[in-house]
Parts: sequence; structure tokens; C-alpha cells
Amino acid sequence: MNLSVIILAAGAGTRMRSSKPKVLHRLAGIPMVEHVYNTCKTLGAKQVQVVYGHGGNQLKEQCQHFDVEWALQAEQLGTAHAVQQASPAVNGEDVALVLYGDVPLTRCETLEALIKDVSANNVSLLTVELDDPTGYGRIVRENGKVTSIVEHKDATDEIRAIKEVNTGILAINASYLNDCLKKIDNDNVQGEYYLTDIIALAVNDGNEVFTTQVEHSYEVEGVNDRKQLARLERIFQRGIAESLLTDGTGLADPERIDVRGILKAGSDCFIDVNCVFEGEVELGTGVNIGPGCVIKDSVIGSDCIIKPYSVIENATIDKQSEVGPFSRIRPGTLLRENSRVGNFVEIKNTTLGKNSKAGHLSYLGDSEIGKDVNIGAGTITCNYDGANKYKTVIKAGAFIGSDTQLVAPVTVGKNATIAAGSTITKDIEDDTLTLSRTAQKSIKGWARPKKK
Ligand code: UD1
Ligand code: CA
Repeated sequence: MNLSVIILAAGAGTRMRSSKPKVLHRLAGIPMVEHVYNTCKTLGAKQVQVVYGHGGNQLKEQCQHFDVEWALQAEQLGTAHAVQQASPAVNGEDVALVLYGDVPLTRCETLEALIKDVSANNVSLLTVELDDPTGYGRIVRENGKVTSIVEHKDATDEIRAIKEVNTGILAINASYLNDCLKKIDNDNVQGEYYLTDIIALAVNDGNEVFTTQVEHSYEVEGVNDRKQLARLERIFQRGIAESLLTDGTGLADPERIDVRGILKAGSDCFIDVNCVFEGEVELGTGVNIGPGCVIKDSVIGSDCIIKPYSVIENATIDKQSEVGPFSRIRPGTLLRENSRVGNFVEIKNTTLGKNSKAGHLSYLGDSEIGKDVNIGAGTITCNYDGANKYKTVIKAGAFIGSDTQLVAPVTVGKNATIAAGSTITKDIEDDTLTLSRTAQKSIKGWARPKKK
């Protein structure tokens, strides 16, 4: 059985009050529609079609990496009409699954259960029981069997009392879907073509309607406004925090961590409050992360300590190193084993060797720094001449005095020492002391200027 998914995403999303198409609004760092797309991929869908209406260019541009076909629904005439823009392109023997670009958190397990009920002419419907079913299509049953779905606006009070509602998600044999769609009209209160009319048609044809009920309503919750999006974001993040805790990662507060991507952590890691993880982040064992850190696409080795308010992106930090507080580790940084980077140090495209330290107030860019090096406070690698970037090499055991400027390209030799306050423009040999300052002098009896 092949699976073909149709994702409906043509709604205007007016209540988001945004110039962006609704389904591009992000949950956990990626557009809502990308969550739905990823679910399709996990389900092994052979074909995925996205039905769009508004903001097509924005949508296609942001979803360039999707392997999907785009179907335009120029006018939003209802959910059946939307599906019809895509369904003729589905192979008749496939199972067609209808999902929604603004329903981001449906679990694959739930959909697998739904799909497995589909055979030749039946329909498999995902439903949910809600305490307040206002606005939703009600599932009408006779002797336990589904006979129709009645939209809230078309329903009598008796039907409105039903709490089991249509989630909109359904699976059906594709050729049967297309047969049914041809028969659907728009003779209802909203004057729309309702996808839900398929149910009554199937029953009328003597076919069965199977239902799968979701346990947690968040799985089928759609996003219409930013409040609902924020609510789902919290539910999603809570789920991630709980699996981290289950897998043995300590969290100071599971309500105050955000993972926008994938966070893998070895045993006995601890993460303090208000940290944000983006992209793919991997922590070794026993890593301790202080409050307020933002870490993106990085690998942090075992027993590292990342102190408060550090920002780390595209970096590798080897075991037993310490970073922060207030460090900025930028792309291309490699901090080797047992190195130390302290407050207000910015590092970019640089390797800092084993046991080396840059404790305070420095900029190290495009540099190759060996082991056992000490970078004094206020050291700057001047890597940019306004047009091009140049490299600084500092060899093992060197000592860079405070407030040194290293004008690249430049090499500092092994065990070399640079005196504080030096501006280094020429290569330095191994085992030497280099100074570049004017000799200190004092003028006796010098008077400060006075205000005229
Ligand atoms: C629909 C269902 C209802 C169900 C509810 C669950 C129908 C007729 N009703 O109602 O039974 O309880 O979802 O949320 O299907 N869309 C398009 N093109 C259109 C119309 C809609 O792409 O022409 C998309 C929207 O972007 C949206 C989704 O389909 O993501 C649902 O459409 P909406 O009009 O909100 O349907 P509901 O009235 O909520
Ligand atoms: Ca809706």
C-alpha cells in the first residue's frame, strides 16, 4: 500500500494578523507546515501535495527543501474543493491521507493507526472528544456506527450536544475519494464544499466508516491565532523537557527550556533555567549548562561547564573545557580539551589548543592557537583590513600579554612572550620576549589644562 498525503494550507489565516501565510509561522523553530511535512516523511509517504492559496511565493521559497508538489486553490470554496485541487494527481490505488498545514502536532503513531483501517471503499476518520465542541463538525452515530458529520453551523441543538467531533484528518482510498468528491455540492449554511460530506456518501454507498480517537486533543488542534500557536509551543516544549528528564538529563525547571531542533545529551548533564537549543546540539556526559545560554548546532564534550549567558554557535568544545559567563563562541570554533574561555571573549573560526586560556575581554578570529597558551585580557586579533581576512598563528606555550593587538597575518612562535600593550605586526620567533611600546617617561611638575 502506497501512501499519498494531501496537506491543506490554503486558508488565509487572517487571525494571525500577519503578512506571512499562517502555515509558515514557526513552532519550535520550524514552520508549522514543516512539522506536518516531516510527519509525512516519517510515515513513508510516496507523494506529498500541498494545497495553497495565499502567499504562494513565500511558501514555496521557505519550503524549497520539501519534496512536494504544489496545488493552487485560487479561491477557498471549502475543504472538499481544496482536496480536489490535488486528489486527481493521486494514483487511484493509493491511500490518500488528508492533513492540515496548521495542525502541527499529530503523532505518527496516531496516523499509522488511522491508515491501517483503510481498504477499498471505506473511510477512516480521526475524531476527538471535546468538553466544548463549539464550532466543530459533530460525529453523528446510529447504533454506534458513524452515519454523517454535521457542521456546527448546520447542526440542530440535539446534534450540537454531541461531544465527539471531526478533526478533519481522514484517510481513504484515492479513487473512491475522487468518486465521492464529484458528488459533493455546496448546499449548506456556509455555501462551501464540505469534505465531511464524504461520510454520508460512503454510508449511503453501504461502506463503512472507521474511527480512531485521539487521546490528547493537542494532536489535532489547529492554529488560528498566535495564542493557540503559543499554547501548542508550550505543550510541545513540555513534551521535550519530559523526555529529557526521562532520559536522565537534569533540568532546573522543565517549563524554562526551549529546544528548537534536536538536543542529545549524555548521562548526568544538567541544564539551568532559560536555555535555548537550536538546530542539532550534542552534549557529552556530565555537561553543566548555566542559566540563559543559547546553543546552536554544536557539540560539547563531557564534563564541560558552560557558565551563564553564553552564546555558542556551530562550535565544537572538547571535554573538560569551561566557557563563560558571557562568552560568545561563533561558527568555526574548536576549543580543545580543558581549555578556558571567560567573560566577554568572542571567538570565531579559531582553534584554541588543549589547556589554553582566554579569560577576559578578547576577540580571537581566524586563529590557530596551540596548547598551553595564555591569552591575556584585552587581546585582539586584527584579522580584517577592511577588505580581506588574515590568519593569526600562536604556537604552543606562548604568553600573550594583556592588551595586545596581533595584526594578521602574523605568527607567534613557541613559548614566545609578548609584553602587555604591544602591537604585533611581524612574526615572532620561538622562545623570545617581544615588546612594542614607547618607553615610559614622566614629566615632573606637568600641570593639567584649566577651563577657560
Ligand atoms: C473543518 C471541518 C470540521 C472539523 C474542523 C476541525 C469541513 C467542512 N469541516 O471545519 O468538521 O471539525 O475542520 O478543525 O471540512 N482550507 C483550505 N481551503 C478551503 C477551506 C479550508 O485549504 O477552501 C483549509 C484551511 O486552511 C484549514 C482547514 O482547511 O487549515 C480547515 O478549514 P476551515 O475552514 O477552518 O474548516 P472548519 O470550518 O474549521
Ligand atoms: Ca478551522
